[in-house]
Amino acid sequence: TASSPEATPVNEQQAPVEQPAGQSLKVGIDAAYQPFSMIGSDGKAAGFDVESMKWIAKDQGYEVEFIPIAWDGIIPALQAGKIDLVYAGMTITEERKEKVNFSKPYWKVNQMVVVKEGSPITLDDVKNGSVSIGTQRGCTAAIWIDENLVNTSLMPSENLKLYDNTPLAVDDLISGRIDAVMYDSTVMNDIIAGKPASKIGFIETNEEFGIAVRKDDTELLEKLNTGLDNLMKSPEWDALIAKYNLE
Ligand code: ARG
Repeated sequence: TASSPEATPVNEQQAPVEQPAGQSLKVGIDAAYQPFSMIGSDGKAAGFDVESMKWIAKDQGYEVEFIPIAWDGIIPALQAGKIDLVYAGMTITEERKEKVNFSKPYWKVNQMVVVKEGSPITLDDVKNGSVSIGTQRGCTAAIWIDENLVNTSLMPSENLKLYDNTPLAVDDLISGRIDAVMYDSTVMNDIIAGKPASKIGFIETNEEFGIAVRKDDTELLEKLNTGLDNLMKSPEWDALIAKYNLE
């Protein structure tokens, strides 16, 4: 059971009396991807995906531990066996499907663009590539910007600023170091809550989140899909959506 030095397990002990000793799954998450996955001030994993995973684990007879991993290294960590699955708002993409298998989709997002409060920058400025944009390294917003603005020469590549997580990009936005931030809509709402940043619009990427597993873990994928199905049919699903204010 290898765990790298930077991948510190967060203790998530489940009552051992309630279920037969199951296999313990190492779940890769992001420490700052609220409200889907985060490490709370108490040091424990929390969020919509984390609670969904706990429900599914119980339903399917697994124990789980949550391991925060840098987003741009999370698929390599999965392939290397440091974690058994990624459950942290991962968009299902054709490119990723070459490396991992995904569960059925469980959530939809588009990309949201925000600027500093009072800024005159418009969504067109962003789509024209005429301003600097920050986002998380390795995320689908970064991929969209690369494909649509940098590779088409609309925007110089140095105007794409990449961060370990998006709250850091929003800090730079507010201090005036970058012009705009682009990120998954549901998550951006949470990241800018209470901060002097304003939404200026969406880019319709029509993304769907799925749970990612290694290609050869077909049995695990089947169980995760069954558990996810059961969860989505249960009243707990709507309760979780309400609890985390998802929209
Ligand atoms: N949905 C986007 C992607 O798949 C961003 C996800 C970032 N997730 C995270 N846990 N940081 O790239």
